[in-house]
Amino acid sequence: PTANPTARADGFQPVGTVADLDRKGQILNKRLASGPVLVIRNPDDTNSLAAVNPTCTHKGCTVAWKTNKKLFVCPCHDAEFAVDGKVVEGPAKKPLPTYQAKIEGDAVLVKV
Ligand code: FES
Repeated sequence: PTANPTARADGFQPVGTVADLDRKGQILNKRLASGPVLVIRNPDDTNSLAAVNPTCTHKGCTVAWKTNKKLFVCPCHDAEFAVDGKVVEGPAKKPLPTYQAKIEGDAVLVKV
């Protein structure tokens, strides 16, 4: 038995469904032991996914994906991050950590 029954041999863990992803435009999952993950479809290639730790590197608010801006935006002090986690607009200075993510069947999987 493992500590996390959903962990797979390849290290990917399910964080939601494709239906969720397409309904909300993003999946925010806070149930993984390793911390929160936010998954989106890559705006430049919607067949691929992008995933970040959405904890803002400024003071720890949770960023959200803004489809119209194609950026992760922090609700607290308006820091902006690109799809690859890099800072576009301060006050944050450090990038968001990124993860590999993929779709298998109807499951959205992230390697954390
Ligand atoms: Fe995100 Fe300040 S906590 S910009």
